[in-house]
Amino acid sequence: MLFDTHAHYDDEKFDQDRQELLSSMPSRGVGLIVDPASDIASAMKARDISREFDFVYFAAGVHPHEAAGAGETYLDDIRALARDPKCVAVGEIGLDYHYDFSPRDVQRRVFAEQLELSLELSKPVIIHEREAVQDNLNILAAHPGVRGVVHCFSGSWETARILLDMGLYLGFTGVVTFKNARKCVEVVKNMPLERMVIETDSPYMAPVPHRGERNSSLFVRLVAEKIAEIRGMDYEDVEALTMENGRRLYGL
Ligand code: NI
Repeated sequence: MLFDTHAHYDDEKFDQDRQELLSSMPSRGVGLIVDPASDIASAMKARDISREFDFVYFAAGVHPHEAAGAGETYLDDIRALARDPKCVAVGEIGLDYHYDFSPRDVQRRVFAEQLELSLELSKPVIIHEREAVQDNLNILAAHPGVRGVVHCFSGSWETARILLDMGLYLGFTGVVTFKNARKCVEVVKNMPLERMVIETDSPYMAPVPHRGERNSSLFVRLVAEKIAEIRGMDYEDVEALTMENGRRLYGL
């Protein structure tokens, strides 16, 4: 069975067929899914979905895109959500200087506050970083002891090594199947296997040959197949390994 460690089923793009699609997952080879939130409302929606499907878990957190609208009580809201037995992480959190939907100083503050909260709650974090490599590394370095995953990793091997030295996992999406994925392939080739998890980031990031389509956990198999090809491993071994790694990461 496959573990899709990052898929946004609370997204409205699943409103038409969410029940049907999720119901079909176990019979189609997907055994576990984590739905990371983008804000408090999305975390509550992800929690409700996790209550309907025993193989769906969720994370509670405020995404950098939503940092400016986090509000004054968001840390207490995450604390309350984190008491739910299906809440496995604080996320997704981080920095996005590509879109800059929230001012950068606000993004940094909300990221740092949630890293501190993850330590208080003893939960892993799910980190989103885009065009903010150095600030991400600096803020993480200021929070020793933080556990978790840098999701949709597509950075350099140099950056990967620093994150791995911090004890973090790296999550790989359909990006590994893209033609221009040279950096990503290098990281997959060189990194320790026990820190690798797979994900779809659904409804985004559909792998080749489905680029541009709505993504779903059914396509996480294509990520595992590509990793098997890059590492010269049997597909079944990658499937088992990434399941084991995902379980260890999220404590499942
Ligand atoms: Ni995401």
